[in-house]
Amino acid sequence: MRVMTCIEDMRLLARRRVPKMFFEYADRGSYAEETLRINRTDLERIKLRQRVLVDVARRDLRTTILGEPAALPIALAPIGLCGMQWGDGEILACRAAQAAGIPFCLSTMSICAIEDVAAAVAQPFWFQLYVMKDRGFVRALIERAIAAKCSALVLTADLQVLGQRHCDLRNGMTVPPELKLRNLIDIATKPAWAASVLRGKRKTFGNLAGHVRGMEDVHSLSQWIAGQFDPSLSWKDVEWIRDLWPGTLVLKGVTDVEDARRAAKTGAAALVVSNHGGRQLDGAVSSISALPKIVDAVGSDIEIMFDGGIRSGQDVMRALALGARSCMIGRAYLYGLGAGAQAGVARAIEILRNELDVTMALTGTRSIKEIGRQVLAEA
Ligand SMILES: Cc1cc2nc3c(=O)[nH]c(=O)nc-3n(C[C@H](O)[C@H](O)[C@H](O)COP(=O)(O)O)c2cc1C
Repeated sequence: MRVMTCIEDMRLLARRRVPKMFFEYADRGSYAEETLRINRTDLERIKLRQRVLVDVARRDLRTTILGEPAALPIALAPIGLCGMQWGDGEILACRAAQAAGIPFCLSTMSICAIEDVAAAVAQPFWFQLYVMKDRGFVRALIERAIAAKCSALVLTADLQVLGQRHCDLRNGMTVPPELKLRNLIDIATKPAWAASVLRGKRKTFGNLAGHVRGMEDVHSLSQWIAGQFDPSLSWKDVEWIRDLWPGTLVLKGVTDVEDARRAAKTGAAALVVSNHGGRQLDGAVSSISALPKIVDAVGSDIEIMFDGGIRSGQDVMRALALGARSCMIGRAYLYGLGAGAQAGVARAIEILRNELDVTMALTGTRSIKEIGRQVLAEA
């Protein structure tokens, strides 16, 4: 891999190495992408307070996430079709996360199945759940996550219906890609990607194929979601899931204080302040602007995680300063995966780590615990 100085370098390389339909699936957002953009611009607006002549010779980036030790306040977010950014992408990303000492969360809509990842990695990982109309299937998925010894279940609450992503329609994104001339030409110019996907264990949704009737004929994500995801999902179902899942439960996709109050009463160990990376409700507030209000309302009752727009260690610092205990990263690691497979994900994590470390030094903070609103220029 060439010299990668920042996540944007990895993004540019991933754009060259991954076919357009999958690169844009990862990179872009829903509708006019207002929320995708504001996730970034609101983060950039938050200014840090530079402190000098503080002894920062010893800095410690370790923390705990959901009660478990973590080398960094970062986890890899659940990503559908991760294995289409690079063959066996879920396994590669999970290995990179575990080598770096941070959690990895596998998506329901992954290419590698829960069992594939469990067989290929050394430690437990988290599983993210989407709730389908077929509750028998949902129950079976939870049982598979239990059998695979997943250490947390992350229930995603903000995707009962799919926000339209224009580029997926324009690109005719399907899994696996249809062998149309346009796609063949694109894939032919990405031989390393093509070889990785051909070598990969699976070419379609691993958690669903063979478990859901008719799934073999469904290639389009939007078609599958429209037909199978349950728009009637409600707080009552959280109780049902709570009863089925004996371990740590996380609720992902909360940006509203009222919802956060409700989430704090479900018995979940954590909630993730998230707008799905600007891929669902366009026009929604940025994740970072929602964070401090939720922390103030329920931060003492439930662990608060954050995602949306994190592209640097400085961004991680901003979220921690506003009260997040840890951050999930989505695109930041996906670009790494597309740019350089497992080593690319490892490099993306290392970049964020180094940036956070230097940011801590320059703001006069020595440990994650010390980070608070005092590091912000306008607290
Ligand atoms: C390509 C892509 C696929 C995603 N798939 C899922 C998914 O299957 N389940 C889920 O809960 N969130 C999914 N998300 C949302 C991420 O978990 C996370 O909330 C988001 O990426 C955070 O924003 P960031 O990419 O700016 O870091 C996806 C995000 C991206 C970019």
